[in-house]
Amino acid sequence: MAIETANRSRNCGRRGRENWTPSRRQDRGYSRSASPYRGSDGVRGRKRSVSSASSVSSHRTRTPPPAPQPLQETRRSPISDGPAVRDNTDVPATATPSISAHRDLYSIVSQVGEGTFGKVYKARNTVTNVHVALKRIRMESERDGFPVTAMREIKLLQSLRHTNIVRLYEMMVSNGSVYMVFEYMDHDLTGVLSQTQLSFSNAHLKSLCHQMLAGLAYLHHKGVIHRDIKGSNILVNNRGELKLGDFGLARFYQKRRRTDYTNRVITLWYRPPELLLGATVYGPEVDMWSAGCIMLELFTKKPVFQGIDEINQLDVIYKIIGTPTPDRWTGVMNLPWYELVKPQEAIPNRFRELFRKWMSPAALDLAERLLAYDPSQRVTAAQAMQASYFTQEEPAAEPPVGLAMLEGEWHEYETKREREKRKQQQHHQRRRTETAQ
Ligand SMILES: Nc1ncnc2c1ncn2[C@@H]1O[C@H](COP(=O)(O)OP(=O)(O)OP(=O)(O)O)[C@@H](O)[C@H]1O
Ligand SMILES: [Mg+2]
Repeated sequence: MAIETANRSRNCGRRGRENWTPSRRQDRGYSRSASPYRGSDGVRGRKRSVSSASSVSSHRTRTPPPAPQPLQETRRSPISDGPAVRDNTDVPATATPSISAHRDLYSIVSQVGEGTFGKVYKARNTVTNVHVALKRIRMESERDGFPVTAMREIKLLQSLRHTNIVRLYEMMVSNGSVYMVFEYMDHDLTGVLSQTQLSFSNAHLKSLCHQMLAGLAYLHHKGVIHRDIKGSNILVNNRGELKLGDFGLARFYQKRRRTDYTNRVITLWYRPPELLLGATVYGPEVDMWSAGCIMLELFTKKPVFQGIDEINQLDVIYKIIGTPTPDRWTGVMNLPWYELVKPQEAIPNRFRELFRKWMSPAALDLAERLLAYDPSQRVTAAQAMQASYFTQEEPAAEPPVGLAMLEGEWHEYETKREREKRKQQQHHQRRRTETAQ
């Protein structure tokens, strides 16, 4: 079976949290030949670059640049002159465009992220002492200039301004590397949920859900689909604010006319069934499914649909919410891969039975509406914000300000490192015990 072979070979053997986190090269830079459907947009992984006419590419480098420690001869890129930067009042002191004024402007504090598309650092503005996140745009593999995907992420972020969307302050060039300068967020959801030091109250969980939905409602209202909602892309700070980050896969969509887009988007565990069944015509509902997965994860502290490849992902979903039938999902049978991967037997919906112990009735109702099989029946972000879970059911939402008490800053990156360290310690301990015997 064509899909099965292709998909299994892409993901085989990836189990558990360490291994599942999709390498963007695999999950974003999908193999087009492996997929029977070809999207029309350029997601990450496609080797396309804008021409050297780009204002940024004049500073580009073809050899891997040294680690930026400290940053020197920093220049603001002309890209940063967009409105998203200009009228910032709380931007760290980077307003003077003189090169010398930017010498040593940021000093790196630590690394907080490592994506396929670049490293993310926590840095301190040496003038204002304000922390920022610097995301280095990887240019080594780009033969002819500034990566178009990064250009897209920048353009998109510059058009967005909302409390629940991470703020891009400006672009910066240093030692031949291009950086996106973001407001700094102390944690991401994957990192925070991995911590046993802290447990969110129901009021905190409600606030986190509400903030995520508010970010999505804003995005969708602006005509943007995020297409990679997952724990590590949802940032939180010590004031209890949640912001959506990582717009590397986001795109504007046509609100009136539905067109074909790339099918291989959204990290496997958060990918909606319509994409797993081959849909290429889709809209913001794909983000709402991911939001449903995150809502459940907030309560259970674990991703709920942990498939190992696309086919298994569907099986995992079926085992929890039952198999899709035409009365639950009109048109499911017309989806491109339905015949290839259709369920062999009917499985009942066990959703309420499984999650009752974690969630209140109104929370269950909302999660169920977010995880509706039929995309046209799935609740929108704006509707979800009006759900009785938020408007009627006690307790009222309260931002999790207690995050400030958390020891350490927890992003997926630190969580992974911590886990590796623990594994190594256990390994050494075992070796020592064996030698002693
Ligand atoms: N503004 C920020 N403040 C603090 N940490 C951040 C910020 N932006 C990103 N990070 C951290 O860096 C990680 C990687 O960033 P991001 O997701 O934007 O990059 P990416 O290259 O697309 O990564 P990946 O391929 O792993 O998704 C995030 O998961 C998050 O933990
Ligand atoms: Mg990311």
